[in-house]
Formats: sequence, C-alpha cells, structure tokens
Amino acid sequence: NKYTIAVVPGDGIGTEVMDATISVLNELDIEFNYIYAEAGDACLEKTGSALPQETLDIVRDADACLFGAAGETAADVIVKLRQEMKMFANLRPVKAYPNTNSLSEDIDFMIVRENTEGLYIADKEEFTDDGATAKRVITREAEERIIDYAFQYAKDNNKSKVTGVHKANVLKKSDGLFKEIFYEVGERYPDIEKEDFYVDATAMYLITQPESFEVIVTTNLFGDILSDEGAGLVGGLGLIPSANIGNYGALFEPVHGSAPDIAGKGIANPIAMMLSAVMMLRYLGESESAQKLDNAILKLLTEAKVLTGDLGGNATTNDVANEIIKLLR
Ligand code: NAI
Ligand code: MG
Repeated sequence: NKYTIAVVPGDGIGTEVMDATISVLNELDIEFNYIYAEAGDACLEKTGSALPQETLDIVRDADACLFGAAGETAADVIVKLRQEMKMFANLRPVKAYPNTNSLSEDIDFMIVRENTEGLYIADKEEFTDDGATAKRVITREAEERIIDYAFQYAKDNNKSKVTGVHKANVLKKSDGLFKEIFYEVGERYPDIEKEDFYVDATAMYLITQPESFEVIVTTNLFGDILSDEGAGLVGGLGLIPSANIGNYGALFEPVHGSAPDIAGKGIANPIAMMLSAVMMLRYLGESESAQKLDNAILKLLTEAKVLTGDLGGNATTNDVANEIIKLLR
C-alpha cells in the first residue's frame, strides 16, 4: 500500500516532534509519500497567511494529515482546517501508560467529541445591550452522525459500552434531543451496552471511577472540557494524541502546542506525535503497523526507560526516536 500524507510540522517543537515521528514511520513496511506544507506563525510571517490555500489543497488531496503544532495562530489554523475539511469528529484517547503520572494504570477510554456545532459557533455569538449571548446549536443530523460514529468505533474496537454525556435535566430541549438520539442510534448496536450521565456527574466519575469508561460521546463544549480532564488523568501533554475525522479527510496531531519554553533545545517528548501517527495508521487500516509502533512506545516507557524531561528523564527527542527505531527492528 502507498499513502500520500500531508505533513504540516508548524512551529516550535512541532517541527522537532514531527522529524522524530517521520524517522520512526520510515522504519515500518509501508510506503508513504510525504508532502510537506506550511502553516502557523512562521508561515504567517513569511507568506502573510497562517494557512495558505496551497496547504489546504495539499491536506485535502492527501489520504491523511499529520500536524505538529502551531503557535499563536493555532486557533485560526486548526479551526479553519477542521471547517474546510468538514472534520466532524474529534477523538481523544485517554490511556494510561506505565511510568507516567497516571491516576490509575487501568485507564483506557476514548472521548468522541462533536466538532461542528454546540456552543462553539463563532457567528452565533454576539454582543447585546447589557452583555453578550452565545447560542448553542444541536441538530439532529450532526448529533446522529457523531453518536453513530461513537457506536461504530466501539464495535470496531471491541469495546462493550458507550456512555452518552449531556445536561438534559437543565437543557431539556437541546440535550433532551441529544439523549433521545443517543438511544435511537444505540438501538442499531444491540450488542453494545448504553448508559448516559449528566456532564457534571461525569466530571466526578472520571476521577472516582475512570476505569469504568470505554467510549464517551458528547457535544462540543462538554467534549472539550472532559478531554482536558482526561489528559490530566493520564498525566502529561507529552503523551496525548488526537484525531480529527471527517468525510473528506482526517488530521492527526498531539494535544500540546509549540512549547516556546523548550523549543529549539531538542528535548521535547515526541511520543504524543508518535501516538498520533499510531491513530493515523489505524485510520488507514494498517492496524498491524499501528500495533507494532504502539508496542514499541510501551516498551520504551516500561523497559528501555528512555524518557524526556517531562517524564522525569534526561533523554533528548532524538534519543527517543533512535530507541523506538531500535525497538522496531
Ligand atoms: P503547550 O502545550 O505548548 O505547552 C504547555 C507546557 O507543556 C509547556 O511548559 C511545555 O514545555 C510543555 N510541553 C508541551 N508539549 C510538550 C512535549 N511534547 N514535551 C515536553 N514538554 C511539553 O501550551 P501553551 O504553552 O499553552 O501554548 C504555547 C503555544 O502553543 C501558544 O502559542 C499556543 O497558541 C500554541 N498551542 C497550539 C496548539 C495546536 O497547535 N494545536 C494547542 C495548544 C497550544
Ligand atoms: Mg481544549
């Protein structure tokens, strides 16, 4: 198989963790055709645009996109990319790896967040005479699409339960509808257990019983907040990948930013970027290679213990890449 991958390293440690990840991907038995494209602060400086049309075209034509991190322009770049590519699902795996600051070793669940509506619609926000209002939009089409995606994800990944998260006791119409659609769609998946919780209770359960979750599906704002709580549960930005999936493309990126405080020193942890590549491999259907790379990362953390500063070690970004390459061979 041969895939065309749009590679957008971006700013700061984005370029460093991307280099490390590409060197590791080159060890797998898959032929990738990388097409590099620019975006972010440096790109804005150089070209006058943080996300040039050329980059959008490259991402649109590719089988998948690997994105490093942007700096101050991140919100514009990522939001625009998501919109242009109609990437409706944001996936955040919350998985405990050994030798990290995880709350428990048995945490392993996926947060599936609706990415196109809810409270995050800029043009539905406006100033009023005495303040400002934001409008929360819940459509049947978008919620059905994300809920079905979550159940299908559960089915494809041998998960036994999906949890729908909402606030239907207060938001009776909008989240009442979300809850209704959750159980409607759930009927198409008779083998998968369904449960639903209020978002505030979920925030607590994530701390008190994180092992009990398998797949969480929720609307845009709740998903954003619970995702960062999930990141906190398993300790550390340097380890957390994410995916944005749509009908016209998919983009994989670490959750962290350009980290100006450590950029240029060669000490960033490349694992979040590498785990983003693992998600990309699974998306492309290359599950064997995905597992191989995932296993190598696990071994690095448990046995080789080549750890960067954020994990209490003193390895460089290149040390980690070289050790992963050794483990893959
Ligand atoms: P950040 O994620 O860049 O850094 C937060 C802290 O975590 C820093 O102390 C940093 O050194 C550390 N850190 C992050 N990733 C690390 C890694 N891989 N290895 C070791 N340590 C790591 O977030 P911050 O400081 O809030 O934002 C910095 C810049 O990044 C801003 O310009 C912001 O707009 C941008 N940003 C971009 C994102 C994106 O491209 N998706 C996401 C978040 C922030
Ligand atoms: Mg966030």
